Amino acid sequence: MKVPFNIPHITGQESQYINDVIETKQLSGNGKYTGLCHNWFKEKFGIKHCLLTTSCTDALEMTSILSDIQPGDEVIIPTYTFVSAANAFVLRGAKIVFADSQKDHPNIDHTQIESLITPRTKAIVVVHYAGVACDMDPIMEIAAKHNLVVIEDAAQAIGVKYKGRFLGTIGHFGTYSFHATKNLQCGEGGLLIVNDEKYIKRSEIIWEKGTNRAAFIRGEVDKYTWVDVGSSFLPSELNAAFLWAQLENYDQIQNSRLAAWAYYEKHLAGTQNITLPNIPDFSSNNAHIFYILCKDLKHRDNLSSSLKEKGIQAYFHFIRLDSSNVQQNTVADLHFPNAQIFEQRLLRLPIFKDITKEQLIEVIMEVKSF
Ligand SMILES: Cc1ncc(COP(=O)(O)O)c(C=O)c1O
Repeated sequence: MKVPFNIPHITGQESQYINDVIETKQLSGNGKYTGLCHNWFKEKFGIKHCLLTTSCTDALEMTSILSDIQPGDEVIIPTYTFVSAANAFVLRGAKIVFADSQKDHPNIDHTQIESLITPRTKAIVVVHYAGVACDMDPIMEIAAKHNLVVIEDAAQAIGVKYKGRFLGTIGHFGTYSFHATKNLQCGEGGLLIVNDEKYIKRSEIIWEKGTNRAAFIRGEVDKYTWVDVGSSFLPSELNAAFLWAQLENYDQIQNSRLAAWAYYEKHLAGTQNITLPNIPDFSSNNAHIFYILCKDLKHRDNLSSSLKEKGIQAYFHFIRLDSSNVQQNTVADLHFPNAQIFEQRLLRLPIFKDITKEQLIEVIMEVKSF
Protein backbone atom coordinates (compact mmCIF):
# COMPACT_ATOMS: atom_id res chain seq x y z
CA MET A 1 0.00 0.00 0.00
CA LYS A 2 1.41 3.36 -1.02
CA VAL A 3 -0.80 5.20 1.44
CA PRO A 4 -2.27 3.02 4.20
CA PHE A 5 -5.30 4.33 6.06
CA ASN A 6 -3.55 4.35 9.43
CA ILE A 7 -0.16 3.45 10.88
CA PRO A 8 -0.18 3.56 14.69
CA HIS A 9 2.56 5.91 15.86
CA ILE A 10 5.29 4.50 18.12
CA THR A 11 7.15 7.18 20.06
CA GLY A 12 10.21 5.03 20.83
CA GLN A 13 9.84 5.22 24.62
CA GLU A 14 7.25 2.44 24.90
CA SER A 15 9.73 -0.44 25.23
CA GLN A 16 11.76 1.39 27.89
CA TYR A 17 8.70 1.87 30.11
CA ILE A 18 7.45 -1.65 29.46
CA ASN A 19 10.89 -2.99 30.43
CA ASP A 20 10.67 -0.96 33.61
CA VAL A 21 7.38 -2.71 34.44
CA ILE A 22 8.95 -6.11 33.70
CA GLU A 23 12.04 -5.40 35.80
CA THR A 24 10.08 -4.12 38.79
CA LYS A 25 7.60 -7.01 38.38
CA GLN A 26 4.69 -4.63 39.11
CA LEU A 27 2.56 -6.00 36.31
CA SER A 28 -1.05 -5.89 37.44
CA GLY A 29 -3.17 -2.76 37.20
CA ASN A 30 -3.39 0.42 39.26
CA GLY A 31 0.37 0.79 39.76
CA LYS A 32 2.95 3.50 38.98
CA TYR A 33 2.17 3.99 35.28
CA THR A 34 -1.60 3.95 35.80
CA GLY A 35 -1.04 6.69 38.39
CA LEU A 36 1.17 8.70 36.02
CA CYS A 37 -1.49 8.50 33.30
CA HIS A 38 -4.32 9.46 35.69
CA ASN A 39 -2.39 12.51 36.91
CA TRP A 40 -1.52 13.56 33.37
CA PHE A 41 -5.20 13.55 32.35
CA LYS A 42 -6.19 15.47 35.47
CA GLU A 43 -3.57 18.17 34.93
CA LYS A 44 -3.86 18.43 31.16
CA PHE A 45 -7.65 18.47 30.84
CA GLY A 46 -8.79 19.62 34.29
CA ILE A 47 -10.41 16.25 35.01
CA LYS A 48 -11.50 15.62 38.61
CA HIS A 49 -11.55 11.84 38.54
CA CYS A 50 -10.64 9.30 35.87
CA LEU A 51 -9.84 5.61 35.58
CA LEU A 52 -7.85 3.87 32.86
CA THR A 53 -9.83 1.01 31.34
CA THR A 54 -9.05 -1.83 28.97
CA SER A 55 -11.07 -0.07 26.23
CA CYS A 56 -13.53 2.72 25.61
CA THR A 57 -16.15 -0.03 25.32
CA ASP A 58 -15.39 -1.02 28.93
CA ALA A 59 -15.54 2.62 30.04
CA LEU A 60 -19.00 2.87 28.42
CA GLU A 61 -20.10 -0.33 30.20
CA MET A 62 -18.99 1.24 33.48
CA THR A 63 -21.14 4.31 32.78
CA SER A 64 -24.09 2.00 32.21
CA ILE A 65 -23.62 0.32 35.61
CA LEU A 66 -22.99 3.67 37.32
CA SER A 67 -26.13 5.18 35.76
CA ASP A 68 -28.05 2.31 37.35
CA ILE A 69 -29.63 1.23 34.09
CA GLN A 70 -32.43 -1.28 34.72
CA PRO A 71 -34.24 -3.57 32.24
CA GLY A 72 -36.73 -1.49 30.26
CA ASP A 73 -34.97 1.83 30.81
CA GLU A 74 -34.48 3.83 27.63
CA VAL A 75 -31.24 5.37 26.46
CA ILE A 76 -31.03 7.85 23.59
CA ILE A 77 -28.04 7.45 21.28
CA PRO A 78 -27.24 8.58 17.74
CA THR A 79 -27.83 5.89 15.15
CA TYR A 80 -24.67 6.97 13.30
CA THR A 81 -22.09 5.65 15.75
CA PHE A 82 -19.99 2.70 16.86
CA VAL A 83 -21.72 -0.34 18.38
CA SER A 84 -20.17 0.02 21.83
CA ALA A 85 -22.41 2.92 22.85
CA ALA A 86 -25.46 0.71 22.25
CA ASN A 87 -24.07 -2.57 23.59
CA ALA A 88 -23.03 -1.06 26.91
CA PHE A 89 -26.69 -0.31 27.70
CA VAL A 90 -28.32 -3.28 25.94
CA LEU A 91 -26.19 -5.55 28.16
CA ARG A 92 -28.09 -4.15 31.16
CA GLY A 93 -31.49 -4.60 29.54
CA ALA A 94 -31.98 -1.07 28.24
CA LYS A 95 -33.96 -0.19 25.13
CA ILE A 96 -32.04 1.97 22.72
CA VAL A 97 -33.87 4.91 21.19
CA PHE A 98 -32.01 6.19 18.17
CA ALA A 99 -31.60 9.82 17.16
CA ASP A 100 -30.67 11.17 13.75
CA SER A 101 -27.53 13.13 12.83
CA GLN A 102 -27.47 16.82 12.07
CA LYS A 103 -28.01 17.86 8.47
CA ASP A 104 -24.47 19.09 8.03
CA HIS A 105 -22.59 16.88 10.52
CA PRO A 106 -22.69 13.24 11.67
CA ASN A 107 -23.14 14.36 15.32
CA ILE A 108 -26.51 13.92 17.05
CA ASP A 109 -29.25 16.39 16.12
CA HIS A 110 -29.89 17.76 19.60
CA THR A 111 -33.10 19.49 18.50
CA GLN A 112 -34.64 16.02 18.19
CA ILE A 113 -33.68 14.72 21.62
CA GLU A 114 -36.57 16.15 23.63
CA SER A 115 -39.18 14.50 21.40
CA LEU A 116 -37.55 11.10 22.09
CA ILE A 117 -37.78 11.39 25.87
CA THR A 118 -40.37 9.22 27.67
CA PRO A 119 -40.94 8.47 31.38
CA ARG A 120 -38.52 5.51 30.96
CA THR A 121 -35.63 7.57 29.57
CA LYS A 122 -32.60 7.40 31.82
CA ALA A 123 -29.62 8.61 29.80
CA ILE A 124 -28.41 10.33 26.65
CA VAL A 125 -25.18 9.26 24.97
CA VAL A 126 -23.61 11.85 22.72
CA VAL A 127 -20.74 10.96 20.40
CA HIS A 128 -18.27 13.61 19.29
CA TYR A 129 -17.76 12.24 15.78
CA ALA A 130 -14.32 12.76 14.25
CA GLY A 131 -13.38 14.66 17.40
CA VAL A 132 -15.85 17.45 16.64
CA ALA A 133 -17.93 18.62 19.58
CA CYS A 134 -21.69 18.13 19.84
CA ASP A 135 -23.49 21.29 20.95
CA MET A 136 -23.28 20.48 24.66
CA ASP A 137 -25.09 23.49 26.20
CA PRO A 138 -28.58 22.66 24.90
CA ILE A 139 -27.96 18.94 25.54
CA MET A 140 -27.05 19.56 29.19
CA GLU A 141 -30.09 21.83 29.55
CA ILE A 142 -32.46 19.15 28.25
CA ALA A 143 -30.82 16.57 30.53
CA ALA A 144 -31.16 18.80 33.60
CA LYS A 145 -34.81 19.51 32.79
CA HIS A 146 -35.64 15.78 32.56
CA ASN A 147 -33.16 14.55 35.18
CA LEU A 148 -31.16 12.44 32.72
CA VAL A 149 -27.56 11.27 32.82
CA VAL A 150 -25.33 12.50 29.97
CA ILE A 151 -22.49 10.32 28.74
CA GLU A 152 -20.02 11.86 26.31
CA ASP A 153 -18.50 9.19 24.08
CA ALA A 154 -15.30 11.09 23.33
CA ALA A 155 -13.52 7.98 21.97
CA GLN A 156 -12.33 10.03 19.00
CA ALA A 157 -12.15 13.41 20.68
CA ILE A 158 -9.13 13.58 22.97
CA GLY A 159 -7.91 17.14 23.42
CA VAL A 160 -10.87 18.85 21.75
CA LYS A 161 -12.57 21.80 23.44
CA TYR A 162 -16.21 22.89 23.36
CA LYS A 163 -16.41 26.62 24.18
CA GLY A 164 -13.11 26.29 26.05
CA ARG A 165 -13.97 23.11 27.99
CA PHE A 166 -12.42 19.75 27.15
CA LEU A 167 -14.76 17.15 25.72
CA GLY A 168 -15.42 14.36 28.17
CA THR A 169 -15.52 16.80 31.10
CA ILE A 170 -18.96 18.32 30.44
CA GLY A 171 -21.47 15.45 30.83
CA HIS A 172 -21.82 13.32 33.97
CA PHE A 173 -19.34 10.92 32.38
CA GLY A 174 -16.90 10.99 29.48
CA THR A 175 -14.98 8.20 27.77
CA TYR A 176 -11.82 8.10 25.62
CA SER A 177 -10.39 5.32 23.47
CA PHE A 178 -6.73 4.37 23.08
CA HIS A 179 -7.39 1.75 20.43
CA ALA A 180 -4.56 1.49 17.86
CA THR A 181 -6.61 3.58 15.42
CA LYS A 182 -6.85 6.58 17.77
CA ASN A 183 -4.58 9.63 18.00
CA LEU A 184 -3.01 8.39 21.25
CA GLN A 185 -2.99 4.62 21.56
CA CYS A 186 -1.83 1.55 23.45
CA GLY A 187 -3.27 -1.14 21.19
CA GLU A 188 -6.44 -1.48 23.25
CA GLY A 189 -7.24 0.95 26.04
CA GLY A 190 -9.67 3.55 27.31
CA LEU A 191 -10.47 6.08 30.00
CA LEU A 192 -13.54 6.67 32.11
CA ILE A 193 -13.96 10.29 33.20
CA VAL A 194 -16.28 10.86 36.16
CA ASN A 195 -17.41 14.48 36.38
CA ASP A 196 -20.22 14.17 38.92
CA GLU A 197 -18.63 13.55 42.31
CA LYS A 198 -21.46 11.39 43.54
CA TYR A 199 -20.26 8.55 41.24
CA ILE A 200 -16.56 8.62 42.15
CA LYS A 201 -16.49 6.14 45.03
CA ARG A 202 -18.60 3.55 43.23
CA SER A 203 -16.59 3.90 40.00
CA GLU A 204 -13.43 2.66 41.74
CA ILE A 205 -15.30 -0.35 43.13
CA ILE A 206 -16.83 -1.34 39.80
CA TRP A 207 -13.39 -0.92 38.19
CA GLU A 208 -11.80 -3.36 40.65
CA LYS A 209 -14.15 -6.35 40.31
CA GLY A 210 -16.73 -5.01 42.76
CA THR A 211 -14.19 -4.79 45.60
CA ASN A 212 -12.79 -1.93 47.67
CA ARG A 213 -9.23 -2.82 46.61
CA ALA A 214 -8.42 0.77 45.52
CA ALA A 215 -9.24 1.99 49.04
CA PHE A 216 -7.16 -0.90 50.45
CA ILE A 217 -4.14 0.13 48.30
CA ARG A 218 -4.47 3.66 49.70
CA GLY A 219 -4.46 2.21 53.23
CA GLU A 220 -8.04 3.33 53.96
CA VAL A 221 -9.26 -0.19 54.88
CA ASP A 222 -7.26 -3.11 56.31
CA LYS A 223 -8.61 -5.79 53.94
CA TYR A 224 -10.49 -5.71 50.69
CA THR A 225 -13.81 -7.44 50.17
CA TRP A 226 -16.72 -7.83 47.76
CA VAL A 227 -18.85 -4.71 48.21
CA ASP A 228 -20.79 -4.21 44.94
CA VAL A 229 -21.18 -5.50 41.38
CA GLY A 230 -18.20 -4.92 39.14
CA SER A 231 -15.80 -6.44 36.68
CA SER A 232 -12.14 -6.34 35.71
CA PHE A 233 -12.11 -3.03 33.90
CA LEU A 234 -8.56 -1.95 34.74
CA PRO A 235 -5.67 -2.53 32.33
CA SER A 236 -2.32 -4.05 33.31
CA GLU A 237 0.68 -1.83 33.96
CA LEU A 238 2.12 -3.01 30.60
CA ASN A 239 -0.66 -1.15 28.76
CA ALA A 240 -0.39 1.85 31.05
CA ALA A 241 3.40 2.04 30.48
CA PHE A 242 2.86 2.00 26.70
CA LEU A 243 0.23 4.72 26.97
CA TRP A 244 2.49 6.83 29.19
CA ALA A 245 5.06 6.97 26.35
CA GLN A 246 2.30 8.25 24.08
CA LEU A 247 1.05 10.88 26.53
CA GLU A 248 4.59 12.25 26.89
CA ASN A 249 4.48 12.93 23.14
CA TYR A 250 0.93 14.29 23.08
CA ASP A 251 1.78 17.69 21.56
CA GLN A 252 3.94 16.33 18.72
CA ILE A 253 1.32 13.71 17.84
CA GLN A 254 -1.58 16.16 17.81
CA ASN A 255 0.36 18.86 15.94
CA SER A 256 1.49 16.49 13.16
CA ARG A 257 -2.07 15.28 12.65
CA LEU A 258 -3.41 18.85 12.62
CA ALA A 259 -0.83 19.82 9.99
CA ALA A 260 -1.89 16.88 7.77
CA TRP A 261 -5.57 17.78 8.26
CA ALA A 262 -4.95 21.43 7.34
CA TYR A 263 -3.02 20.33 4.23
CA TYR A 264 -5.95 18.22 3.04
CA GLU A 265 -8.39 21.04 3.76
CA LYS A 266 -6.34 23.64 1.90
CA HIS A 267 -5.65 21.55 -1.18
CA LEU A 268 -9.02 19.82 -1.50
CA ALA A 269 -11.01 23.06 -1.15
CA GLY A 270 -13.13 23.69 -4.21
CA THR A 271 -12.91 20.13 -5.56
CA GLN A 272 -15.97 19.39 -7.68
CA ASN A 273 -18.68 17.10 -6.22
CA ILE A 274 -16.98 16.88 -2.84
CA THR A 275 -17.95 18.52 0.44
CA LEU A 276 -15.26 19.05 3.06
CA PRO A 277 -15.80 18.53 6.81
CA ASN A 278 -17.59 21.21 8.74
CA ILE A 279 -16.33 22.25 12.19
CA PRO A 280 -18.65 24.59 14.09
CA ASP A 281 -17.21 27.67 15.83
CA PHE A 282 -17.80 26.20 19.28
CA SER A 283 -15.47 23.23 18.61
CA SER A 284 -11.75 22.88 18.19
CA ASN A 285 -10.24 20.04 16.15
CA ASN A 286 -7.92 17.12 16.94
CA ALA A 287 -7.58 15.88 13.35
CA HIS A 288 -8.72 12.39 14.28
CA ILE A 289 -10.52 11.88 10.97
CA PHE A 290 -10.40 13.71 7.67
CA TYR A 291 -13.54 12.81 5.76
CA ILE A 292 -15.06 14.02 2.53
CA LEU A 293 -18.70 13.78 1.50
CA CYS A 294 -19.22 12.44 -2.00
CA LYS A 295 -22.19 13.17 -4.26
CA ASP A 296 -23.92 9.87 -3.55
CA LEU A 297 -23.28 6.24 -2.66
CA LYS A 298 -22.16 5.30 -6.17
CA HIS A 299 -19.73 8.19 -6.36
CA ARG A 300 -18.31 7.29 -2.93
CA ASP A 301 -17.88 3.58 -3.74
CA ASN A 302 -16.34 4.29 -7.14
CA LEU A 303 -13.92 6.80 -5.64
CA SER A 304 -12.85 4.44 -2.88
CA SER A 305 -12.31 1.59 -5.40
CA SER A 306 -10.32 3.88 -7.65
CA LEU A 307 -8.14 4.99 -4.71
CA LYS A 308 -7.62 1.34 -3.74
CA GLU A 309 -6.39 0.54 -7.24
CA LYS A 310 -3.84 3.34 -6.86
CA GLY A 311 -2.65 1.94 -3.52
CA ILE A 312 -4.56 4.37 -1.28
CA GLN A 313 -6.75 3.06 1.54
CA ALA A 314 -9.86 5.17 2.13
CA TYR A 315 -12.81 3.90 4.12
CA PHE A 316 -16.49 4.61 4.68
CA HIS A 317 -17.52 4.59 8.34
CA PHE A 318 -20.53 3.54 10.40
CA ILE A 319 -23.48 1.50 9.21
CA ARG A 320 -26.53 2.93 11.01
CA LEU A 321 -27.22 0.99 14.21
CA ASP A 322 -30.99 1.21 13.68
CA SER A 323 -30.54 -0.96 10.58
CA SER A 324 -29.13 -3.82 12.71
CA ASN A 325 -31.26 -6.79 13.78
CA VAL A 326 -29.78 -6.89 17.27
CA GLN A 327 -32.49 -4.66 18.65
CA GLN A 328 -35.46 -3.25 16.83
CA ASN A 329 -35.93 0.45 17.30
CA THR A 330 -38.50 1.09 20.01
CA VAL A 331 -39.87 4.17 18.31
CA ALA A 332 -41.69 2.94 15.24
CA ASP A 333 -41.44 4.48 11.80
CA LEU A 334 -38.54 6.73 12.54
CA HIS A 335 -36.37 7.58 9.64
CA PHE A 336 -32.85 8.84 9.80
CA PRO A 337 -32.33 10.80 6.59
CA ASN A 338 -29.29 12.70 7.82
CA ALA A 339 -27.50 9.66 9.23
CA GLN A 340 -28.20 7.97 5.92
CA ILE A 341 -26.31 10.73 4.12
CA PHE A 342 -23.19 10.06 6.19
CA GLU A 343 -23.62 6.30 5.93
CA GLN A 344 -23.71 6.49 2.13
CA ARG A 345 -21.57 9.46 1.19
CA LEU A 346 -18.82 9.76 3.78
CA LEU A 347 -15.30 8.64 2.88
CA ARG A 348 -12.37 8.84 5.31
CA LEU A 349 -8.96 9.64 3.81
CA PRO A 350 -5.69 8.31 5.26
CA ILE A 351 -4.44 10.34 8.22
CA PHE A 352 -1.88 9.40 10.86
CA LYS A 353 0.97 11.04 12.76
CA ASP A 354 3.72 9.95 10.35
CA ILE A 355 1.93 10.49 7.05
CA THR A 356 4.36 12.22 4.67
CA LYS A 357 3.74 15.27 2.50
CA GLU A 358 4.30 13.05 -0.56
CA GLN A 359 1.58 10.69 0.62
CA LEU A 360 -0.82 13.57 1.23
CA ILE A 361 -0.10 14.96 -2.24
CA GLU A 362 -0.68 11.52 -3.75
CA VAL A 363 -4.12 11.26 -2.09
CA ILE A 364 -5.09 14.83 -3.00
CA MET A 365 -4.09 14.35 -6.64
CA GLU A 366 -6.03 11.11 -6.97
CA VAL A 367 -9.16 12.54 -5.31
CA LYS A 368 -9.02 15.64 -7.51
CA SER A 369 -8.43 13.78 -10.74
CA PHE A 370 -11.22 11.24 -10.12
C1 LIG B 1 -17.31 6.60 18.79
C2 LIG B 1 -16.65 5.37 19.35
N1 LIG B 1 -17.05 4.88 20.53
C3 LIG B 1 -16.47 3.79 21.08
C4 LIG B 1 -15.47 3.12 20.43
C5 LIG B 1 -14.89 1.90 21.07
O1 LIG B 1 -13.55 2.09 21.47
P1 LIG B 1 -12.66 0.88 21.95
O2 LIG B 1 -12.17 0.16 20.74
O3 LIG B 1 -11.55 1.52 22.73
O4 LIG B 1 -13.49 0.01 22.82
C6 LIG B 1 -15.02 3.58 19.20
C7 LIG B 1 -13.96 2.86 18.49
O5 LIG B 1 -13.63 3.06 17.36
C8 LIG B 1 -15.62 4.73 18.64
O6 LIG B 1 -15.24 5.24 17.45
